[in-house]
Amino acid sequence: MSVNIAIDGPAGAGKSTIAKRLAKELGFIYVDTGAMYRAMAYYFLANQIAAEDEAAIAAACPKVDVTIAYENGEQQVILNGENVNGVIRTEEVGNMASATSVYPVVREKLVELQRQLAKKADVIMDGRDIGTCVLPDAQVKIYLTASSATRAKRRYEELTAKGVSCDLEEIEKDIIERDYRDMHREASPLMQAEDAILVDSSDLTIDEVLEELHSIYEQTVVA
Ligand code: DC
Repeated sequence: MSVNIAIDGPAGAGKSTIAKRLAKELGFIYVDTGAMYRAMAYYFLANQIAAEDEAAIAAACPKVDVTIAYENGEQQVILNGENVNGVIRTEEVGNMASATSVYPVVREKLVELQRQLAKKADVIMDGRDIGTCVLPDAQVKIYLTASSATRAKRRYEELTAKGVSCDLEEIEKDIIERDYRDMHREASPLMQAEDAILVDSSDLTIDEVLEELHSIYEQTVVA
């Protein structure tokens, strides 16, 4: 049976950075489920489908094929045959993903794909509903969070380093809105699974978070 590690938490808590490194160190496959919701969102944006138009979203879903491939160990998201990794990381796509992931029709499609991936291999999967819905039997469940101010500052520094001009207050406002939407939707809202371990990364470095996760893994899987 494959070993599954679920990492959930709000946007910007460091899930993907941490999950990617942990996967490399443990020899697991990293599955970024947010990228799948982003690929669907990218399709809706490209086809001028409004996030509020549930009927149009439902009609579009059967036309959207999302699959995953790995290139040099890096996850690639393939949307209707096209690699969209390079175009799904914008704030616009992230907000659209948050707005359209509220629909069960969108979620059902991706949850099935995620479960198939976890069945086949040892995976570290990050998202919002992995421990609560996608992989309820995961051997390790982590809820990784940080204050909205810390997350906004990290995002601001990341964008500024890339030469993108941005406003810290605006970023924090966006983060708070996104948290609210992800936590209050009806279908699989973001929440800590009862058996998940809470890790608050506000005052921790990446290395310190990794150290904590390694120790949780050792205690729950290896022991
Ligand atoms: O982790 P991310 O920022 O790439 O995710 C983008 C959006 O996708 C997020 O705001 C909510 C949605 N999402 C989800 O509903 N369930 C997941 N498992 C992962 C992401």
